[in-house]
Amino acid sequence: MTQARHFLDLDEAKRAEVEQLVMRAREHKRGLPEAGRLRRGRLVVAMFFEPSTRTALSFAVSAAKLGAQWLDFSTGTSSLSKGESLEDTMRTLRAIGADAIVVRHSESGFPHELARHFAGSIINAGDGCHAHPTQGILDALTLVEEFETLDGRHLVIAGDIEHSRVARSSARAAWLLGAKVTLCGPPLLLPSTTPAWGFAARETDLDAVLPSADALMLLRIQNERDSGAELPPRSDLAFGYGLDERRLALLAPHAIVMHPGPVNRGVEIADQLVTHERSRIERQVQNGVFARMAVLEACLEPPA
Ligand code: CP
Repeated sequence: MTQARHFLDLDEAKRAEVEQLVMRAREHKRGLPEAGRLRRGRLVVAMFFEPSTRTALSFAVSAAKLGAQWLDFSTGTSSLSKGESLEDTMRTLRAIGADAIVVRHSESGFPHELARHFAGSIINAGDGCHAHPTQGILDALTLVEEFETLDGRHLVIAGDIEHSRVARSSARAAWLLGAKVTLCGPPLLLPSTTPAWGFAARETDLDAVLPSADALMLLRIQNERDSGAELPPRSDLAFGYGLDERRLALLAPHAIVMHPGPVNRGVEIADQLVTHERSRIERQVQNGVFARMAVLEACLEPPA
């Protein structure tokens, strides 16, 4: 969490913060009799400027499970389209009684901009190529459920890393919990070497890293975030970085397969492997509810 009561990214997060959220998410998953009273009466506003199925719906379910109210801010029909400033919109939402805003936007840094104007909590539901911190927590939860401790475990993330906010948040969360992280993709889709990525290894040959992976996370090619650079053809990506039966056999018997969704079947993962016994894709979606309960609970004040 970058500052008190906002949840913007995991860039400055500490291991203890991620551990605490994962632990609380596990408690929510086991079921707490008082869950529905924990944040009763709090108002959470959803501002989704980009499409979403998993994140938007699981946040709505999380809010309901905590007793909070979930209100959809219809971005297309709001007064933003009449030229109202973000600052005034934030003031308006606060005046209406919003305690938190869950925001998704194509622009990296947009939630941080909202946080400058809103007196309540801003929770990032994905901003451009930058961050998707609740995905990071739900993926950490999925890994911890599988392996209990991530110390010494190896997470391989394959595909379009450069444009992936999921990669940035999920890699960081897993690394903070002790995992070794390898980013694997064609050079064009690997991020340039920066201190922010200093913790991760890089690889262009997926077959070479599969035998040492405990978890393989596949990523969708982010056509919508292509800034003009030529993207490899989908057939090349499928050939070089897609999971098929041959590559599944290269994984250790205990290794699991993850994907944040939505999936391009037949590109990053073969159709029949989406629901394979080693796939944790549906588990990730399910865990999104509990991870987001933990985040909402941390960001919202308890009822008076
Ligand atoms: N993983 C993820 O963010 O999915 P949605 O775009 O459906 O929310």
